[in-house]
Amino acid sequence: MSRTSRIPGFYKQPVEARRRLVADVADLDAAELTRVLTGGGMDVATADKTIENVVGTYALPFAVGLNVRLNDRDYLVPMVVEEPSVVAAASNASKMVRDGGGFTADSDPPRMIAQVQLWDVREPLEATRRITAATPSLMAMADASVGGLVARGGGARAIEVRDLGDGLMVVHVVVDVQDAMGANLVNTVAEKLAPTIAAMAGGTVGLRILSNLCDQRCVRVTCRVPTASLATDTTAGDAVRDGVVLASRFAERDPYRAATHNKGIMNGVDAVVMATGNDWRAVEAGAHAYAARSGHYAPLATWRADTDGALVGRLELPLALGIVGGTLRVHPGARLALKILNVATAQELAMVAGAVGLASNLAALRALSTVGIQRGHMSLHARSVAMAAGARGNELELVAAEIAQASDVTVEAARRAMARHRSREGTTHAPGSTLGTVHADALSIGK
Ligand code: MEV
Repeated sequence: MSRTSRIPGFYKQPVEARRRLVADVADLDAAELTRVLTGGGMDVATADKTIENVVGTYALPFAVGLNVRLNDRDYLVPMVVEEPSVVAAASNASKMVRDGGGFTADSDPPRMIAQVQLWDVREPLEATRRITAATPSLMAMADASVGGLVARGGGARAIEVRDLGDGLMVVHVVVDVQDAMGANLVNTVAEKLAPTIAAMAGGTVGLRILSNLCDQRCVRVTCRVPTASLATDTTAGDAVRDGVVLASRFAERDPYRAATHNKGIMNGVDAVVMATGNDWRAVEAGAHAYAARSGHYAPLATWRADTDGALVGRLELPLALGIVGGTLRVHPGARLALKILNVATAQELAMVAGAVGLASNLAALRALSTVGIQRGHMSLHARSVAMAAGARGNELELVAAEIAQASDVTVEAARRAMARHRSREGTTHAPGSTLGTVHADALSIGK
């Protein structure tokens, strides 16, 4: 099979068949998917060497987002997330974007900031002058502390001095970390340079650590969606577009709404970040600090109508993601995710994560500005409730559909529906079958 992210009917397949389809598209061995993913991606012995006080591992669903076309290339996107509808919504919105030619993205070089805090600086102007004048030697010292990185093409790129007042100063060492997330690299640089910088400034060394506001490592994603692709069963495409634009304006004016708008974006971004073994706390910290950089907390993505009527979305956020080192050394599930995704650089991974974030935002705004989010959520919630009531296989799908239809999504209603179903079928236990029909139908994915 050629590398496509468009696999109609994927959601209707049983898990093993989905693994074979992913393996075909990604040119992998399906047995590897089964081996790595059956145990949740990491065994207890490995977990015990990863963090402290381990008593087990904790699995989350591992799925693939479909229909993602970015810079004229297709990506099958691994997503790890516990929230129903995130994968379906991102896949569904990516299909609409695909109708308009797919996502276009670019990303900054992978530059991280190491911060060296100084205090008791009596003459900040003179300190700034001295440190700035010493930029070449400080950069050489930084490079010497991360020789392996320099050999791979990275290294120090700039020294920036900031006077925070009251004798407090901070020096930024900007480092190109190549395909790593880069936290360890820049922390090494900060610790190495701190004594020299403090001596130059005539001050005392304070903190030496990266900044998670990595605003020199941003990704920008845009998309154009034809109005015809936005239409729902009950709402015309241009009305949906106008609703999405109004939702964007709401978030642009109101930080209470912007926070939720951005949460919808991070639904998609974090799922990719998690699947690929990256640090989602770092990504979250950077995203929200960036959203507030003007002093007014703002949406990370905005939507407008283009002159030809199409809906245009634009997203920008900092993304510190790696495809080497860190968790990837120890997590077979994360390594497999990267193989499925098949990206060559950390910058490419950041563009994919950004595209899935923009798709998640579009799906949420389209639903919110038409039927609302609860209809889809209720159908999805119905599956968990039916499962809690003991339904399995085909029966689970039927029971979930019935209680969702009746808007009575309770365990009692599910038990009653099961009893009715079993008396009709003359069975006392649930037959096994495929999963996911209600889930997918609720958001019309893969169609
Ligand atoms: C839920 O996980 C995300 C939404 O609240 C996002 C939004 O409101 O835009 C639906």
